[in-house]
Amino acid sequence: MRILSGIQPSGALHLGNYFGMMKPAIELQNQGETFYFIANYHSMTSLFDPDERRKNTLDVALDFLACGLDPKKSVFFRQSDVPEVTELTWMLSTVTPMGLLERGTSYKDKIAKGISPNHGLFAYPVLMAADILIYDSNVVPVGQDQKQHVEVARDIATKFNETYGQTFVIPEPQIRSEAAKPKPDAEQNLALQLLKLVAPLDVATNCQDRLRAGGLGYGDLKKTLFEHYWNYFAAARAKRAELAANPDHVHKVLADGAAKARSLAQKVLQRAKVASGLD
Ligand code: TRP
Repeated sequence: MRILSGIQPSGALHLGNYFGMMKPAIELQNQGETFYFIANYHSMTSLFDPDERRKNTLDVALDFLACGLDPKKSVFFRQSDVPEVTELTWMLSTVTPMGLLERGTSYKDKIAKGISPNHGLFAYPVLMAADILIYDSNVVPVGQDQKQHVEVARDIATKFNETYGQTFVIPEPQIRSEAAKPKPDAEQNLALQLLKLVAPLDVATNCQDRLRAGGLGYGDLKKTLFEHYWNYFAAARAKRAELAANPDHVHKVLADGAAKARSLAQKVLQRAKVASGLD
């Protein structure tokens, strides 16, 4: 089973990224062949500062490796180091109905937020479909917000297969449980929800009981949360500092990952070229 997911290099990663994406991705390393990449082409649809993109890309790589992504188990790479994915994007775009993209909720949300739409933002799901299909991915673990994009990838793969004959594996989305994500407006307060993620169960339960009984102030709760949060990431923080002091090693990991990803991508792209009469 091949598992694939991507993460955009869009700034310092936060607890939501960690519990929502990185931790589950790292746990899946033992359940199949995992491919994880930093979606720097996708970041071009909304980030226009080259230095920031470069820095964010290295930051994501450091965070992932520090938190336990193991390059011996996972193929870890930068999206743009496999340029074949853009070639496949074009091919897929020719079998993508306009209406499919026009119905994109993520696209509509971004416009509603005031982002001025460029063609890349509109075509974002086609590039994402190419990301998924070019590695013959079976399973794509994503958050609820990305589910529609994986469904678009399925539709595009099906359309290509119908047009040119069986070429692509149809991927399955694996939607991560939202339990890992703090819920605003829930009956519980946010600090307590975060504490449950980073502290032992008895500590969290104890705080919850005292909070309900009126015996724990918000200030003290936040102090407890900070201490546990600090300890929870102690090992990762030390590992990150070690990796950050040796960026050449990180670049080597990404280059090795890209070489593996690329040789597979070239095979699948060739299959699509033969099927469609380009070769
Ligand atoms: N769009 C995804 C996000 O913002 C990132 C991404 C790009 C991705 N390509 C992908 C995720 C392919 C899964 C599979 O979170």
